[in-house]
Amino acid sequence: MLKLPGLIDPHVHLREPGATHKEDFDSGTSAALAGGFTLVLAMPNTKPPIFDASTLDLALAAAKEKARCDYAQFVGAGPDNADQVAALADKAAALKMYLDKTFGELRLDDMTLWQLHFQKYPKQYPIVAHSESRSMAAAILFAAMYDRPVHIAHISLREEVLLIKAAKERGIKVTCEVCPHHLFLTAPLPPPVLRTPSPIFPENGGGLGGGRGRFEVRPRLAAQKDVDALWANLDVIDCFATDHAPHTLEEKDSEKPPPGFPGLETALPLLLTAVDDGRLTIDDIVLRSVTNPRRIFNLPEQPETWIEVDEKAEYEIKAADQFTRCGWTPFEGWKVKGQVIRVVLRACEAFKDGKVLVPPGYGQNVRAW
Ligand code: NCD
Ligand code: ZN
Repeated sequence: MLKLPGLIDPHVHLREPGATHKEDFDSGTSAALAGGFTLVLAMPNTKPPIFDASTLDLALAAAKEKARCDYAQFVGAGPDNADQVAALADKAAALKMYLDKTFGELRLDDMTLWQLHFQKYPKQYPIVAHSESRSMAAAILFAAMYDRPVHIAHISLREEVLLIKAAKERGIKVTCEVCPHHLFLTAPLPPPVLRTPSPIFPENGGGLGGGRGRFEVRPRLAAQKDVDALWANLDVIDCFATDHAPHTLEEKDSEKPPPGFPGLETALPLLLTAVDDGRLTIDDIVLRSVTNPRRIFNLPEQPETWIEVDEKAEYEIKAADQFTRCGWTPFEGWKVKGQVIRVVLRACEAFKDGKVLVPPGYGQNVRAW
């Protein structure tokens, strides 16, 4: 049995308030524990979005009542809330800025609106930017101009990882994360093939079923050259993040499929399978799922917290076995090697042999410690 520190996921969507039919703090943090995560940072693109004191209170009240693992809640950058969110910084995970189009209402088009946030948000916390391609370059320019940390969410492209590498070499305070789906999947082949080839595990991939909506995710799944570049430049990547973005199967297969994949319960098994494959080491995982997110987001250590993993256990990923409420996974049927057996969270057995053992409300807001 392999013992690791409790993992931190710096990017999850728990859908509360507003869309608890997709997920809530209870189901989402159960999924986290089952996936080996003991601390999750919740995104603010809810309904209503979390963007001021009263909406932050709304999310934190739901979390306090329902979360089973520890958490912190992001606040979102809006067109006129720079002072308000800056005043909330010590209570929030960090500030999230949506610079490109995705799910939810929080998006800032006008770059002059970015400036106030970069000036005012306290520098001991990063600004997390959803920014793809050239808007990512703009976010890095802002990090340089205001000499403050920026964390680029879910990078997916060769040009992104190479630009971040160059920016880091010049001393700009930029960090980044990558999601398992951008490491293990490429863009679907054109219809009617509808399969997602796995460039990493050729025996996996394929048979997602359903319509093209199941492949919708932001950033989009990329090309082989992009996936290759992410693996080749892993030293540039600071964190693994799931971007757990649950939408129901019915929604994914509808006329207007929302973008997003669930990921909390598949991330570690996929990464451990890559370890078995010789592409990654356990130290690589601990660095990017514990050490670096803790440092970048200024998170406290969780006392007496660890996970136990059976590296040899082989099994098939099945949506039916998952705690997430969304009812599907893009990795259905994939064969993986490495299973979470037990999770101990603050000296309490929180998950064992497929069962979540701590009640709703056991999870704590680490920003209140
Ligand atoms: C996310 C969601 O559904 O909230 N969707 C996604 O495709 N990643 C939003 C986001 O993180 O961009
Ligand atoms: Zn996201």
